[in-house]
Amino acid sequence: IGRERPGLWGEGKEQGVGVDKIIIEGGELLKGTIRASGAKNAALPILAASLLTEEWCTFHNVPDLVDVNTIVRLLVDLGSEVERDGAVLRTRTRRVGNWEASYDLVKTMRASILVLGPLVARTGKARVSLPGGCAIGARPVNLHLKALQELGAHIELRDGYVEATTAGLKGAPIYFDTSTVTGTENIMMAAVLAEGTTILKNAAREPEVENLALILNGMGAKIRGAGTDEIIIEGVEALGSVEGSIISDRVETGTFMIAAVLTGGDVVIEDCEPGHVEALVAKLREAGAQIDIKEKTIRITAGPNVRSVDVTTHPYPGFPTDLQAQMVALMAVGNGISVVRETVFENRFMHINELMRMGAEITIDGNRAIVRGVERLKGAPVMATDLRASASLVLAGLSAEGKTELERVYHIDRGYERIEEKLSRLGANIRRIKQ
Ligand code: UD1
Repeated sequence: IGRERPGLWGEGKEQGVGVDKIIIEGGELLKGTIRASGAKNAALPILAASLLTEEWCTFHNVPDLVDVNTIVRLLVDLGSEVERDGAVLRTRTRRVGNWEASYDLVKTMRASILVLGPLVARTGKARVSLPGGCAIGARPVNLHLKALQELGAHIELRDGYVEATTAGLKGAPIYFDTSTVTGTENIMMAAVLAEGTTILKNAAREPEVENLALILNGMGAKIRGAGTDEIIIEGVEALGSVEGSIISDRVETGTFMIAAVLTGGDVVIEDCEPGHVEALVAKLREAGAQIDIKEKTIRITAGPNVRSVDVTTHPYPGFPTDLQAQMVALMAVGNGISVVRETVFENRFMHINELMRMGAEITIDGNRAIVRGVERLKGAPVMATDLRASASLVLAGLSAEGKTELERVYHIDRGYERIEEKLSRLGANIRRIKQ
């Protein structure tokens, strides 16, 4: 990539520019083997972490996604050099030349807030647009800001931007009111260069937080406890170069697992991390699927029918909110009634109206979706509203009778690497129409 041509990875897939459609003829059962891609939600904080050092950072297994393009564009804006070769991405930020993450970038990807911690830690200042609301709820960043203040940053909100300055961050005990994934990551990245010890309590335990900590430790940071709810960070003076790998994407893996069950198929997923999808494995077994696990491989064989099961989303290691929409699509063809409770985000049922247009029978009652299984969904033109909602509509389309046309496909390109190619390889009748 480089300074001259920022953000060209996955050319033509800039968010909002493409108005591609995905067309699915439902009814093919999925069969075969695919490989899991690198995790979007690990790649984003890890790329942001490269801002903490002036040395080269080399990352393997980086997925080719619109959101990764966006963070690369942001890094280049801030002064980083970025090179890539397939799934290997190298970046170096010899000097931070700009301290601002503009509204234009942040509005396309909320995770841009992840540069706040690294920028303040490295340079003592940052100006990052506040992410607004989004399709799945209010999603504030108050906990990121409060914790940064506790580390000694001065925070002001001006013209829709967070302006943070400090003469030097100091380690402190920090308690997160709510478990927040990017909040934990942002503060962990700030604390690695703070003077003294920081203890994060009620920290997020997601595997992506652990992946980030491993990379930071590779750069010379001193972090213990990542993956538990108490993370201890001893500040160091400077960080150096690193070479490391992005973990596989548990949400993508989970989406393909649900697709296999929904279509009555038999799918093997290679290079995945079975330990990261245990909550889903338990639910799919309860729903009648057979699941065989080897070290980095999962085989999912659908049962004779889909048993309706209840699901409640929780922070990791609970059932992930990022698989809730896909699970509702599965329960839409269950053999009874299923109650799906969303406890992480307050407005994450946008897919339900679209699923009902495909014949699903679902009632929403506060944060619960009561799903009465029907024999078969029917293809329809539907609209993607957010990333995971669009995945659930693709899955519904795969199992439905007839044709489903999904619009606003750019949502899905943010988080799924070549989804229609992978599904075609498994036998799905799916194609993209470029417009
Ligand atoms: C991350 C994931 C996203 C996933 C979510 C929950 C990335 C890039 N995105 O998002 O895919 O759906 O975790 O697993 O990793 N909250 C506050 N104040 C804050 C921060 C969060 O009230 O300052 C609340 C949120 O509104 C939400 C809950 O905490 O209700 C959890 O959100 P959080 O874990 O922060 O989600 P993200 O990190 O944005």
